[in-house]
Amino acid sequence: MANIKAPECLDLCVTTGDFEAAAKEKLSEKSWVYASSSAASGLSHQSNLDDWSRINFRPRIMRKVNTLDTSRNVLGKKSKLPFFITAMGTLGSAHPGAEPSLVQGATRKGINAVISTATSKSLETIMQAHIDEQQKVNNRSPTRLDFQLYVPPDRKKAKELIQRVKAAGYHSLWITVDSSTQGKRTADRYLQEREKLEQGGREMVREAAAENDFGPAFGGRPTAGYLHPGLTWEDLSWISEEWGGPVVLKGIQSVEDVKLAVQYGMQGVLLSNHGGRQIHSAPSALMTLLEIRTYYPEAFEKLEVFVDGGLRDGADVLKALCLGATAVGVGRPYFYALAAYGTEGVEKCTEILTEELEICMKMLGVSSLDQLHPDMINASPLLNDMWRPGSFKAGNLRAHL
Ligand SMILES: Cc1cc2nc3c(=O)[nH]c(=O)nc-3n(C[C@H](O)[C@H](O)[C@H](O)COP(=O)(O)O)c2cc1C
Repeated sequence: MANIKAPECLDLCVTTGDFEAAAKEKLSEKSWVYASSSAASGLSHQSNLDDWSRINFRPRIMRKVNTLDTSRNVLGKKSKLPFFITAMGTLGSAHPGAEPSLVQGATRKGINAVISTATSKSLETIMQAHIDEQQKVNNRSPTRLDFQLYVPPDRKKAKELIQRVKAAGYHSLWITVDSSTQGKRTADRYLQEREKLEQGGREMVREAAAENDFGPAFGGRPTAGYLHPGLTWEDLSWISEEWGGPVVLKGIQSVEDVKLAVQYGMQGVLLSNHGGRQIHSAPSALMTLLEIRTYYPEAFEKLEVFVDGGLRDGADVLKALCLGATAVGVGRPYFYALAAYGTEGVEKCTEILTEELEICMKMLGVSSLDQLHPDMINASPLLNDMWRPGSFKAGNLRAHL
């Protein structure tokens, strides 16, 4: 048998994990560190990955699954699939085609994508790539682009950015709320120190994101004044007013904050610990989802609940949906697929997740995603580890609700 490995042959990628190995061989050390690194010792990232395997399905049998409906209503529009490409910055570090190549693959496969504020290409160029690809498929792709907002601390600049996003035609705004500062990315710290030593002790020159006035420098090393430590719930009113469309808060990690999001009239929350890249020892995305399901199930009627972090298999997607998620985001697998194979990798990654989702739906005994419900999974091992209100008799916890 020929000794061909995944990096040379896309056909050899049969799980999303295969893209990671292929990307590692292709990427520069700096780009690899940027994508793969996480905060501190990596606990937050690891628990994202581990927790999906700590819950099991409770399949039902003989339930007529000849045809399947994998569609979902997401923020007022029909989505072909219940998963999307979540926001990732500086995709130019993955592949020269950067975000436009990602968007081409997404559009061909009809999957939605959230475009980061911190892109390598301008937000207009990225939207144009989507429009051009749409024309090639006679405007038949259901793909929609959403925009992830890092709120610039300067309100005038923030409003200018929101207006540009609106004018370009993005559907919804996903405000990242877990980034009052940059997480300590250990692997990147080592790399930075080595770079400094190699340059005779001088600070690295920060490469500006060539085509994005609002982007960071490179690889998640933010320029000064880029993140907003002063952001509060009150800011949501002027942002929502300026935007005038659906708003989702990205990076919610507790039931108390979901309650506030409802109170502040948000259309959605994305339960996420930023792929384990921000706070050390964060709850996994799944743990937060369980917390909402347990203590505030009404949330699922009041707004749309999204999840990202560590989802690597179509089965993981279904587990989240059983617990009430509207749709889920997938990050690194798409970064790696783009890095190793460009647009075709993005298509293949979507095919892999779709096939796994469909196989699992059939064997779970559901022909439509609306039939999923919490009794289709056993989450007992995780429920034992879940936060319990009042465990420390913290009398004034209510003050935060
Ligand atoms: C390379 C990379 C870049 C990211 N850039 C952003 C970003 O610009 N804005 C943001 O809100 N989240 C960003 N994230 C976090 C993702 O949106 C998402 O929460 C996370 O990747 C999901 O976990 P997963 O990679 O395990 O799927 C980034 C994550 C990665 C891996």
